[in-house]
Amino acid sequence: MAVLKLNTGAEIPQIGLGTWRSTSEEAYNAVKTAIAKGYKHIDTAAMYKNEAEVGRAIKDSGIPREELFVTTKLWGTSHRTPQTALDTSLAKLGLDYVDLYLMHWPVPLVAENESELLEIPTNPDGSRRIDNDWDFIKTWELMQKILATGKAKAIGVSNFSVNNLKTLLLANSTTVVPAANQVEIHPLLPQNDILEYCNKNGIVVEAYSPLGTVDSPYFKDETLSALATKNGVSVASLLINWALKRGYVVLPKSSNPKRIEDNLKEIDLSEEDFAKITGLIDQFGERRFVQPNWGSFPIFE
Ligand code: A2P
Repeated sequence: MAVLKLNTGAEIPQIGLGTWRSTSEEAYNAVKTAIAKGYKHIDTAAMYKNEAEVGRAIKDSGIPREELFVTTKLWGTSHRTPQTALDTSLAKLGLDYVDLYLMHWPVPLVAENESELLEIPTNPDGSRRIDNDWDFIKTWELMQKILATGKAKAIGVSNFSVNNLKTLLLANSTTVVPAANQVEIHPLLPQNDILEYCNKNGIVVEAYSPLGTVDSPYFKDETLSALATKNGVSVASLLINWALKRGYVVLPKSSNPKRIEDNLKEIDLSEEDFAKITGLIDQFGERRFVQPNWGSFPIFE
């Protein structure tokens, strides 16, 4: 399988299994199937609440740990304590280290009790309980210290816009350039500015929701259906291979064994077909599928 190189020198397989919205049992079966079919890269997060099952499936796969690339993510309520949060994640995963530890969102949150730790706590007026006395620069300062412990081989961010990346890289306390930035990317949200900025700064980009997430309109699109028939592959394969050709990591989520296998297929997408997929945005306009309401906190510009 194709790999990219992180700024740490480590290799990251270009296709990884996404596990957002996979329930515990689904996550176990999906990860077990995926590894059996040849996936080497699994992406989870504390917030997905499936780390224990992901870890159990990794263990049960029988594949040596060092042959796999495992990512998990720091949830907003733990921005002040990333080292403890990573220890908790590792305990659930049953692993000694992750290959990549990402700051899930740039937004620090306040949990008032244990039960809110993996939630999005809200204020009485319904707004999200943002930790206004903290910021992602301080979180990153603490995350940088994790590298010396060996519990994460690389650290990175997720859902960072170019502006937030610039703020982070310019901060005095920043000594480590994030190894990766995981963001939503698909033909109707190509994120060209983020790709350009990250490529220039040696940050590997990872695409989440590359298929358009649940009830994706891509599977009903006539252009894609015709291209899929022409290439003898599924629409999902087209979208995944469009991403591979654009040169970043792609994280399709599935809990269906046949689709999990299908999503690993690498094809030689012609320039003409690639351009047709790129051109979908001219027909339908930009579309973002994952847009939590973080209030006035600047996330996407
Ligand atoms: P399922 O888990 O039942 O396979 P994204 O990766 O953009 O978040 O998209 C995930 C969604 O796309 C899920 O609803 C998933 O459903 C579906 N999906 C994943 N792979 C395929 C595929 N090869 N064909 C059709 N739908 C797919």
